[in-house]
Amino acid sequence: MHDNADLLGGAGTTPLEGLVDGLARHGFAVAPDYFPAALVGALREEARYKDRHGEFHLAGIGRRQARQKDTRVRSDRTCWLKGDSLAQCQLFEGLESLRLAVNRDLFMGLFELESHFAIYGPGDFYQRHVDAFNGNNGRLLSVVLYLNESWQSGWGGRLRIWPEPDATSVATEVEPRAGTLVVFLSDSIPHEVLAATQERYSIAGWFRRNNTTADWLDPPR
Ligand code: OGA
Ligand code: MN
Repeated sequence: MHDNADLLGGAGTTPLEGLVDGLARHGFAVAPDYFPAALVGALREEARYKDRHGEFHLAGIGRRQARQKDTRVRSDRTCWLKGDSLAQCQLFEGLESLRLAVNRDLFMGLFELESHFAIYGPGDFYQRHVDAFNGNNGRLLSVVLYLNESWQSGWGGRLRIWPEPDATSVATEVEPRAGTLVVFLSDSIPHEVLAATQERYSIAGWFRRNNTTADWLDPPR
């Protein structure tokens, strides 16, 4: 198992360069304190506010016809980000820099971002999965930002990451601490959310490829 420090870029690199480098070498990377505490705090407050106003719903699995709600696989609640606050705009700006760097250095062709807040209540989990099922949802790169101030190790809730689709040994586990950003390849890095004893807040996002063809405008308008 890697130490998280081992997954960061070498000395003298910026956090952004470290992420891109880790992604190139391992297919995933972890950056603690990637976003400022004030921004992360504002995002957490926003999630709490939306939750109080009933904007979170039990998460689904799969897309369109295949879509189902199966609490044996995941039991978190989610709320899509629509870019309707200053904090969300600042987050999108930071993630846009990541998108551009990844496209420039790794030629990934990342196009659109879709993202949601997620709340895992005590005991909630998301079993081992990859984010791009058979590549059919166009998701190329996954990002997860944690929003939990003063998270304690003993609370659980770690993100467990495997290094490749059929791997049996774990690559690393990430504590869901406020400001930590995790990025990984959507089609080839299995991961799992372990149950926690406390409420656990995160934002998960996916950069998709452009699926536009002659008779299908992506995204649909
Ligand atoms: C997901 C996911 C991880 C997390 O929503 O697909 O894997 O730690 N989330 O919230
Ligand atoms: Mn996932």
